[in-house]
Amino acid sequence: MKRKKLLLTAFLPCLLATGLLRPACAATDLTTPRSSGDRSTGSSLWLNYHELAPSLQKDWSGVVRQVFSPGESAILLNARDELLLAIGQMTGRQVAATDSPAGKGTVMLGRLDQLVDFLPKSAVEKASALTEGGYLIESITTGGKPATAIVSRDDAGVLYGVFHFVRLMQSGESRLRLSLSSEPAITLRMLNHWDNLDGSIERGYGGRSLWKWEELPEQLSPRYEQYARYCASIGINAVAINNVNANPKILREDYLKKVEVLAGIFRKWGIQTYLCVSFASPIRPSGIVEGRPRWRGVGDLESADPLDPEVRQWWQTKVDEIYTLIPDFGGFLVKADSEGQPGPSSYGRTHVDGANMLADALASHGGTLIWRAFVYDNKGDDRAKEAYDEFKPFDSKFLDNVFIQVKNGPLDFQPREPFTPLFGAMPQTHLAMELQIAKEYLGHATTLAYLGPMWAEILASDTYAKGSGSTIAKVIDGSLYGQKKSCIAGVANTGDGPEWCGSVFNQANWYAFGRLAWNPRLGAEEIADEWIRMTFRCDAPSRAAILKMMMGSHEALVDYTMPLGLNLLCAYDGHYEPSPATREAFHKADSKGLGFNRTKRGSNYVGQYHPELQSIFNDPDKTPLKYLLWFHHVPWDKQLSTGRTLFDELTFRYNRGVKSVDEMVQTWKSLGGEIAPATHASVMKKLLEEQQFACLWRDECVRYFSGVADF
Ligand code: GCU
Repeated sequence: MKRKKLLLTAFLPCLLATGLLRPACAATDLTTPRSSGDRSTGSSLWLNYHELAPSLQKDWSGVVRQVFSPGESAILLNARDELLLAIGQMTGRQVAATDSPAGKGTVMLGRLDQLVDFLPKSAVEKASALTEGGYLIESITTGGKPATAIVSRDDAGVLYGVFHFVRLMQSGESRLRLSLSSEPAITLRMLNHWDNLDGSIERGYGGRSLWKWEELPEQLSPRYEQYARYCASIGINAVAINNVNANPKILREDYLKKVEVLAGIFRKWGIQTYLCVSFASPIRPSGIVEGRPRWRGVGDLESADPLDPEVRQWWQTKVDEIYTLIPDFGGFLVKADSEGQPGPSSYGRTHVDGANMLADALASHGGTLIWRAFVYDNKGDDRAKEAYDEFKPFDSKFLDNVFIQVKNGPLDFQPREPFTPLFGAMPQTHLAMELQIAKEYLGHATTLAYLGPMWAEILASDTYAKGSGSTIAKVIDGSLYGQKKSCIAGVANTGDGPEWCGSVFNQANWYAFGRLAWNPRLGAEEIADEWIRMTFRCDAPSRAAILKMMMGSHEALVDYTMPLGLNLLCAYDGHYEPSPATREAFHKADSKGLGFNRTKRGSNYVGQYHPELQSIFNDPDKTPLKYLLWFHHVPWDKQLSTGRTLFDELTFRYNRGVKSVDEMVQTWKSLGGEIAPATHASVMKKLLEEQQFACLWRDECVRYFSGVADF
């Protein structure tokens, strides 16, 4: 009898006996919730202004007796109203907006030029030094009375400052003397919506699209404004509203009028609108001549060749038209020559030709062009190498208003991948990072997988581009190469469903993305703690229990789906269930071992990293276990640093993942009296589904690998 067969047969009954497998198969009864202080339904997301406990109400009431807000721009009016709303709901006392900051306990908010006469010199100095979007929150004395100033050099900064102040009130603590300032580390903090014009969402699990194209521009869904408010509350300042697999119709006049209305709403919350455009847009709707791919556009040309003067003029005219309607339009996001999308290669032109042509058209209006690097044709020996091979030679060739947007990992938003080696390899190019908030490969809306730890891990990864400490965060925020502009994008997980993101816990990922975009050095735990305090109203032990669940949830998912650096084991259709049998090209399992040899003796993907990382990733004994099978084809019976063989470690991790989900179920059950009944029940339902999902993944993968392995 082979050793691994023994292991499996020994292992499963043991799990059954210990109850490890039981919850996934037996129906679990929902705990009847006791009366609860938490009233959250998930529909107000993290801007859930629960009434504060009496002692806190008393403390904060002294600090927030009235609001002085001299500015009258739409953003500043929103900032003022938000503060009044939050104070009213949390303290139970409606406070008034006043014309002067004379009274005790005034919160004054505004731009520095509006508040300068009321601020002490030290506060003026600090506020003068703030960068765009930055703010100062300071307890001061003005006219002999204690007050709080929320001040910035620009309107959006004041709005962000107000949301920070509100967050402090929501934290459940008294913070009566304040002195803090904050500035965004990344200039463009963006959501990318993969929303189609027919209302569907590519990889969307939170409902149908928020944008009701058939109702626009006349009718306005209340969600537009709410959406913008949630985005602003976490510092998001740009949104690309349509799918990167772009329908050219978005550039038609009737659609641009609809976009104009959305952009007008977003503007009031400090958000710029971007559009995804098809590279074939200039082509006439009926398609084009023989000999070229049958691209269809919305123009009147027969070509989309970026070097053709007529094509260039077409784009310039279109861009001018957009800016007439939307003077603060952000720019275009483009997926070209990727997964069947049109691009410059059809005309023998390069990414540089394509991107710069569009960037040129946008430049006269101060617009930005974001060009995606998600390209592969699966013809070479390793898809992971393709973006680097294609884009690295173009370093320094893109215009100054171009960002090259690169996914965090070289394959495709997997539960865990090492960072794409382009980061740290294109010092003379503005690189944007693309993360996916929607959990395309992480169980969609079923799983409770908090992505903060995954993103924090990526951002903290060291590229060694300029020696040790050259982290991804420094590449992205521009500080490594002294770049003034920077960009991070998250593929949105929003929809028109009741919980906006498919589940309450998926809202945490939207929140975490925004917070990390503001400050990529924030800890995932700190962010989760903030979110829990803002979302639920529960006691400290319950908060701690939820935090523990969240912090372990991503690792649990990695364990029960693709541990040890495995990737893309999912079904082609939907990217949800396991299908290792169809993914041999990625896991390379054979009778001897498992994993993709990407070392110098294999595809030499490792060669795309800086030498310090090459020496780690070329050596299976130095490669961290979490990436082992990403880089190496490892014999099934090789003993790993844990003392277990590869096969044993694999099954150990698959089972550990399932066990973690079981623990989450138990924890959530125990919170039955603490969480609002509807929220508790809906999370419970999903956790029970996740138990099934985790078992499915483990059982399918372990069965498949045991069938292949021969040792
Ligand atoms: C993935 C995803 C596609 C998406 C693509 C992209 O492949 O499955 O739906 O279009 O990424 O990022 O462009």
